[in-house]
Amino acid sequence: MKTPNQRALFLVFICVFGSAISAAVRAEQVSPIVSPSLKEYRIVRSVTEDAQRCIDCHAVESKGIVADWAASRHGHANISCMDCHAAGPADPDVSKSHLALDKIPVSVIVSPKDCSRCHPGEAAQYERSKHANTLELIWKIDPWLKYGMNNSIERQTGCYHCHGSVVKVENGTFSADTWPNVGVGRINPDGSRGSCSSCHTRHKFSLSEARKPEACGQCHLGPDHPQIEIFEESKHGAIYHAEGDSWNWNAAPGTWTPGVDYRAPSCSVCHMSGVNKIAATHDVTERLAWETQAPLTVRPSQFAPWPAKTDWQTERRKMEQICLACHSQAWTKGHFERLDAAVANYNDNYFKPMKKLVDELYEKKLLSKEKNLDEQLEIDMYELWHHEGRRARFGAAMMAPDYAWWHGFYELKKRCMIIEEQIEKLLQSDRPAKVFEVKGSGGDTTKPDFEK
Ligand code: HEC
Ligand code: HEC
Ligand code: HEC
Ligand code: HEC
Ligand code: HEC
Ligand code: HEC
Ligand code: HEC
Ligand code: HEC
Repeated sequence: MKTPNQRALFLVFICVFGSAISAAVRAEQVSPIVSPSLKEYRIVRSVTEDAQRCIDCHAVESKGIVADWAASRHGHANISCMDCHAAGPADPDVSKSHLALDKIPVSVIVSPKDCSRCHPGEAAQYERSKHANTLELIWKIDPWLKYGMNNSIERQTGCYHCHGSVVKVENGTFSADTWPNVGVGRINPDGSRGSCSSCHTRHKFSLSEARKPEACGQCHLGPDHPQIEIFEESKHGAIYHAEGDSWNWNAAPGTWTPGVDYRAPSCSVCHMSGVNKIAATHDVTERLAWETQAPLTVRPSQFAPWPAKTDWQTERRKMEQICLACHSQAWTKGHFERLDAAVANYNDNYFKPMKKLVDELYEKKLLSKEKNLDEQLEIDMYELWHHEGRRARFGAAMMAPDYAWWHGFYELKKRCMIIEEQIEKLLQSDRPAKVFEVKGSGGDTTKPDFEK
């Protein structure tokens, strides 16, 4: 209980603060609202009158776009809206509704072909990469697409979001089934493949954004390709999170230097940026010695659906040069010896024996070859290589012990038991496995027309 003295003090306290608060409320009512300061746009560049018109109207209609553009290197170098968006009057993707706003025909899509006018090197490397060609590749091999095991809305909101869509134009507007889309392998109305803004978002087209791991992590994540999680777990990722804010991400290309501008690698450093004497590349297959995402790990040049034109030994030496910017020969050599041993361990102890057992069931007609992924055993076999089998290999490749073991080899052991048990039951009963009517299946199985 409070003493009388304390009670009096409490009353005084209430009076003083109470009147202070009501004074503040009154002041609030009379003083004008101060809005956050609005940035002014006085964007006068030495561009043509036509180009200035785009900027002036869009500075009102779409502030965010003009602000991003004005802050970009393109803005500084007088690369205007027209340089990227102006279209030929007969182009299939000209915006019809925009002709009512301005006489110059414009198209919203700015394809790699458009960028290639000024960045021919990057566009040529990108054009031959797996990124740009992924749609054709997945239509060759993917069971979900080949057997119609998922439907169009599942593909649009999932697969095509990352891999890209085949953009369709109908009566001067894009079909909502295929647009908007900035997947890495988008097929554009002009026939070119890919979308540069999957990593350099418009309209900053920033180098620093693309150099950070988040740019890759939007697609490279999840149970089947957890590269961003793997990076987070590695020492490299830990250092990036502890210190990355103070690194110089904007260094001009060709001058971004390990140990000076940054002290641990991001995805871009190991896979794309110029380091030591290794030139920067927009073809992410360079520097790889394995196809660690494939069911059976092979060399990139032996990957039948998309044989790379690279020689794995040359690419391995390139990747080692990246490491040698910060590590010794022995450290680097030790790492790759362990990666190669982990690959052999996966191939020989897990994938090959399980595949052999399952193939025998197909021969005995205890499993149906008609479609993939409609029998429980097929799903288990799929997850064996596509989920934990990849995680084990990726974890070993990129220094993430939790992925190599707990999400990887440990899960492989468990999955093998599940598979073996089902096989034993099928052999004992000698009756074909139950074929499920897969929910949401029946998707279109006609390959899109990739060549224009
Ligand atoms: C008089 C105002 C005005 C002018 C001038 C103008 N625009 Fe636009 N623009 C708009 C508006 C408004 C929209 C949004 C229309 C909508 O929401 O569909 C738009 C949309 C666009 C789009 C997106 C179209 C789409 O299909 O999504 C692009 C690209 C574009 N403008 C580029 C340009 C370029 C390049 C110029 C100069 C040649 C220009 N604009 C001139 C008002 C203008
Ligand atoms: C370096 C090339 C480039 C420049 C310069 C450029 N854009 Fe774009 N713009 C793009 C790309 C790329 C996209 C995304 C479309 C795609 O994925 O192909 C885009 C998209 C757009 C869109 C549609 C965005 C949306 O979310 O609906 C509008 C509108 C637009 N630009 C207007 C402008 C205006 C206005 C300017 C000048 C201030 C401008 N652009 C300058 C490349 C450019
Ligand atoms: C008309 C020529 C032109 C076109 C078209 C063009 N660019 Fe550029 N781009 C430039 C110039 C000039 C620079 C500045 C070069 C510099 O600062 O060294 C630049 C710089 C860049 C940079 C580096 C930005 C930075 O932060 O340093 C990127 C990334 C880029 N462009 C991407 C693109 C993409 C993607 C497209 C197509 C959507 C495109 N550009 C279209 C001329 C162009
Ligand atoms: C979150 C983005 C994302 C989604 C959604 C996605 N993928 Fe992928 N996919 C990737 C990435 C990233 C890889 C690269 C894996 C690697 O090399 O580690 C990949 C790899 C593949 C591969 C292997 C390609 C090769 O070189 O052998 C196929 C096939 C594939 N995806 C098909 C699909 C299909 C079909 C769907 C939808 C049912 C889908 N993906 C959904 C991002 C995605
Ligand atoms: C997979 C992500 C990704 C895609 C897609 C991508 N880029 Fe880049 N880009 C990068 C990264 C990362 C860098 C920084 C490389 C470095 O550090 O040197 C870069 C750098 C650049 C630069 C500056 C390099 C220089 O030497 O001036 C240009 C220009 C550029 N990209 C243009 C493009 C164009 C054009 C496309 C489409 C054809 C494209 N990019 C697609 C990730 C990407
Ligand atoms: C918009 C989604 C997307 C983004 C962003 C993206 N990727 Fe990819 N990446 C993919 C897909 C899809 C594949 C699988 C292509 C295939 O194998 O068919 C892939 C494959 C790869 C491969 C394997 C190539 C091979 O030959 O097996 C590497 C390496 C890679 N990406 C690195 C990167 C890096 C580094 C970045 C960031 C700078 C990045 N990616 C950004 C979607 C993306
Ligand atoms: C320290 C360097 C390093 C960093 C950082 C790194 N990687 Fe890797 N990555 C590798 C090495 C090494 C391999 C295996 C190369 C081989 O095939 O021998 C690899 C393999 C891959 C593969 C598998 C390619 C295939 O088809 O087998 C993909 C995809 C990939 N990395 C994407 C990424 C992404 C995305 C990030 C960032 C989130 C990243 N990497 C960060 C070094 C790195
Ligand atoms: C820009 C510098 C840089 C580059 C490039 C680089 N690393 Fe590292 N790496 C570091 C730093 C710093 C550490 C932390 C060392 C420590 O533990 O004190 C590290 C740690 C490691 C570790 C120890 C991981 C652990 O958890 O103990 C391995 C393994 C490793 N790197 C391998 C590689 C390989 C392989 C490559 C090339 C594919 C590479 N690194 C590229 C800077 C780099």
